[in-house]
Amino acid sequence: MCGIVGYAGPQGAAPVVLDGLSRLEYRGYDSAGIAVLDGGRMRSRRSVGPVENLRRTLPEEFSGAVGIGHTRWATHGPATRENAHPHRSQDGHVAVVHNGIIDNAAPLRAELAAAGVEFTSDTDTEVLAHLIAHLVARSPAGSLEEAVLDALARVEGTYGLAVVDDRRPDRLVLARNGSPLIVGLGDGETFVASDLAAIVRHTTSVVHLEDGEFATVTASGLRTFTRDGVTTSRPPVRVDGRSGHRELDGQGHHMRKEFLEQPAAARDVLRGRLDSRLGTARLDGLNLDARALRAIRRVKVIGCGSSYYVGQVGAQMIEELARVPADAEAASEFRYRDPVVEPTTLYVAVSQSGETVDTLFAVEEIRRRGGQVVGLVNVVGSSVARACDGGIYLHAGPEVSVASTKALTNMALAFALLALDLGRVRDLSIADGQRLVEALGRIPDQIQRILDDEGEIAGHAEELSLASSLLFIGRVRGYPVAREGAQKFKEITYRHAEAYQSSELKHGPLALVSPDLPTVAVVPDDELLGRNVAALHEIAARGGRLLVVTHPGVDVGGLDVRRIDVPKSEPELDPVLLTVPLQLLAYHAALELGHDVDRPRNLAKSVTVA
Ligand code: G6P
Repeated sequence: MCGIVGYAGPQGAAPVVLDGLSRLEYRGYDSAGIAVLDGGRMRSRRSVGPVENLRRTLPEEFSGAVGIGHTRWATHGPATRENAHPHRSQDGHVAVVHNGIIDNAAPLRAELAAAGVEFTSDTDTEVLAHLIAHLVARSPAGSLEEAVLDALARVEGTYGLAVVDDRRPDRLVLARNGSPLIVGLGDGETFVASDLAAIVRHTTSVVHLEDGEFATVTASGLRTFTRDGVTTSRPPVRVDGRSGHRELDGQGHHMRKEFLEQPAAARDVLRGRLDSRLGTARLDGLNLDARALRAIRRVKVIGCGSSYYVGQVGAQMIEELARVPADAEAASEFRYRDPVVEPTTLYVAVSQSGETVDTLFAVEEIRRRGGQVVGLVNVVGSSVARACDGGIYLHAGPEVSVASTKALTNMALAFALLALDLGRVRDLSIADGQRLVEALGRIPDQIQRILDDEGEIAGHAEELSLASSLLFIGRVRGYPVAREGAQKFKEITYRHAEAYQSSELKHGPLALVSPDLPTVAVVPDDELLGRNVAALHEIAARGGRLLVVTHPGVDVGGLDVRRIDVPKSEPELDPVLLTVPLQLLAYHAALELGHDVDRPRNLAKSVTVA
């Protein structure tokens, strides 16, 4: 988690690093810090809270050609100034910023303490600063590179690391193991970041460091090398400059800007991929021909958070349209339970950022065990995308708000495409394929119609924001929608929101129902409508208040309830649309409660620690 930025060049490090950090705040915003080298002098500053606080504390004269910075999401130790990065060695010469976790920090800390080091923070990272400084002092040539190599040979854990030493004022030394680092090449200047977003406005020529790789960065470029000190050759690649567009464009919040972008984003993920004549999808990036698709016996979707819930929507679509057994699992669980990996299973990794470490490690584990993995990923060239055998890019554009909206919608649409493709090489009829292709083509306009009802949805949100606890219910197609609805609501309103299958109500949650506990019920117009309406009656009979998310004209059992009417698609695709008003509900409830919608407490957009 957390974000790293570095710079070497004539612009001066502080402005570039601060700008980069503010673009990475979605990775963590507990605290931030910067260290710059001005000739042989190092200066550093750290502060609690967002990058803006750090900017305010910097003296006007904070110049230096080389620098590193960090925005933190606390893992070891609370969000205090002492725990913020960069961490400096006791002798003051070395400063380190670090993403990841050092697993053997405790014994190393004890060893250094016994050698007289006084620790000033609770973090695992501080160990690295002292260890590197000790090794520089011991190295005959005083080489920073050698010290970093030697230090990391003693370290177990994950890291993306940038180190500076005021006795080597022209350079930063980088190391990567499980946490991304990217070097951007400019004209006489070089940029470093844990995420493209921080540097893409400066350059689109980048080198992605690989795990186990090290680099020395100076204003004139980089040299990469292995653990054994052997120089490697890493030609730069070109990346899409648009991925750096993170402005609000006049909207008050990124979350609102992004959910309003959904019709356009949905068009982008479908563009060129629908074949209305054959009633199928064209997904060249999967790298799977019809024969390979037919050989798949099972589909396993893995992802985290909201991406996992969309994965459940997707697994259901695949099972329904392709009649291939499919399920979704939290990647964070999957990789820890010694899973059976089958060569005839298609694993689908789903991630907006492509940097969620649990998802990435699960992909790597599956591949190590001989499984084939495709990615449904938004960020082009991200770690998950690069680790997969193929995939479907989501083309949702940059997403900044922690609470994901447009990327999720595009994930659901990408799953629909995958399900269609898998179905049509099996028994899904051409007529059904054409029916779904046509329905998919209508979805962007239908999303727009939901967004046009924002005012009305905001009214419902105002009422829901008064409750301290809520239930979200749905069954079969509606259940993952309810889960995602509850997730979004709790993420940004801090209200307790719990999702249940409506079929399970009488096995427990009905005991909670009272006039104080509103229920948001997802009621698609499908073969389970009667069962869903029965659940609504069970709640209403016990004095529960209901908000029903359904379609125009659906009779909800004659009950006098609040409702949101969502345009109807084909039943298999209804979950895509039913999810959208739940985003708006959470957003407006959070606004009503006065929360920072884009930066919910304790969370970060991209979780790069396990
Ligand atoms: C974090 C975010 C969630 C997101 C999840 C997975 O927990 O707060 O909104 O769904 O990570 O992120 P990914 O980038 O892998 O989709």
